[in-house]
Amino acid sequence: MDTRINDIQGVLKKYGQEHLLNHYATLDEEHKKELLDQIENIDFELIKRLYEDTKKEIKSGQDDITPIEYLDKYKLYDDYKYYENIGKKAIKQGKLAAVTMAGGQGTRLGHDGPKGTYDIGLESHKSLFELLSDGLKEEEKKYDVTIPWFIMTSRENNKATIQFFEKHRYFGYQKDKNIFFFVQGELPMIDTEGKILIGEDGLIKQAADGHGGIYESLLKSGMTEKMKQMGIEWVFIGGVDNCLVKMVDPVLMGIAIDKGVTVACKSVVKANPKEKVGVFCKRNGKPNVIEYSEITEEMAEARDEEGELLYGESHILCNLFSVSAIERMGANTLPYHVAYKKASYIDKDGKLVVPDSPNAYKFEAFLFDAFGEVDEMAVLRVKREEEFAPVKNADTVGVDCPKTARELYKKFYNIV
Ligand code: UD1
Repeated sequence: MDTRINDIQGVLKKYGQEHLLNHYATLDEEHKKELLDQIENIDFELIKRLYEDTKKEIKSGQDDITPIEYLDKYKLYDDYKYYENIGKKAIKQGKLAAVTMAGGQGTRLGHDGPKGTYDIGLESHKSLFELLSDGLKEEEKKYDVTIPWFIMTSRENNKATIQFFEKHRYFGYQKDKNIFFFVQGELPMIDTEGKILIGEDGLIKQAADGHGGIYESLLKSGMTEKMKQMGIEWVFIGGVDNCLVKMVDPVLMGIAIDKGVTVACKSVVKANPKEKVGVFCKRNGKPNVIEYSEITEEMAEARDEEGELLYGESHILCNLFSVSAIERMGANTLPYHVAYKKASYIDKDGKLVVPDSPNAYKFEAFLFDAFGEVDEMAVLRVKREEEFAPVKNADTVGVDCPKTARELYKKFYNIV
């Protein structure tokens, strides 16, 4: 043990993180071991680089951003049936799987638990997970095929998520046969001096590393291997918070297959220049999404001759990938975006500090930063009222909230 601690101390000293062992002696044996394991797993070079990057100006202004081409699902005319038939054939052959990214908590909704367990207030009181499973099961019936469902959780909510599914008998899915859970990655949070934070439990304060970690997590958890064994060639990846998500879309699949692209994404027209959605674009000639927090006002307002927003194809987290694209993307690291957040921590005197303003950096990779791996991808514009009813905020915010999602859901399914 002594040599292990000595080695760890050496590494901590090298990176100026000696404080991580300040309260080691006060921990029980189990937590001691966990802390040492955590420290050994930290990529200190990466943390150092990420900290240095927080001091640099964001240089996205240097990128060459241009609009992206798209197809409109309802202006495909004769091609609609053509693509649909190609997609239907592949779906019936069992080549499609669905992945739901459910690593988030329902914090913005004031919900204490995994976001997928949130009840949006329908008369049925179905959770987001159940609404998503209803949609998938309906498609399975339609195509007479099994569509395996993979659910990405986070360390924070993995246990609660699985317990929720157990309680609901996996909504009719068979565990380890057609429903699978895997946990996304995490990164330590650091303060404004670059020091890694210690949480209330005396362990490293970690935070989910964003949904961009999904490719690596799918790979490392053996899920892509499992998919291949099951004969899966295409994977729809969507968020847990869109209760109208259509995970099985033969037209989208048909387009991807016919055009020979390995990524195909759905978009809806941006409601207004200020809507909080990322928009598809080309960045230095490669497909990409420019996030709502990063777009300039000028770009957000720019319009073409017909008056349509130049950057108006909203990214709705409805993206289809070939398994080989996921494997390729999982082998490369993505850039991290930094968020400045409030995070409670244990200070050097062992006292819990609960800040009332942001004090720590959290690092997240975004799934769409991997789009640049491919030269071409397809973007398919679909109808907002059919496919996009996000539940992000509390009702008091008035947009993307349970009330708006419920109304859209009821309208689509003709529920009075
Ligand atoms: C997201 C998109 C934005 C898009 C909008 C559409 C990002 C960075 N931006 O914004 O481009 O227009 O949705 O609704 O995603 N999640 C995880 N693990 C994580 C982080 C997120 O599983 O570490 C999941 C969440 O549970 C959720 C989804 O990813 O299902 C979206 O994450 P969220 O942080 O809510 O993104 P938005 O800011 O809403």
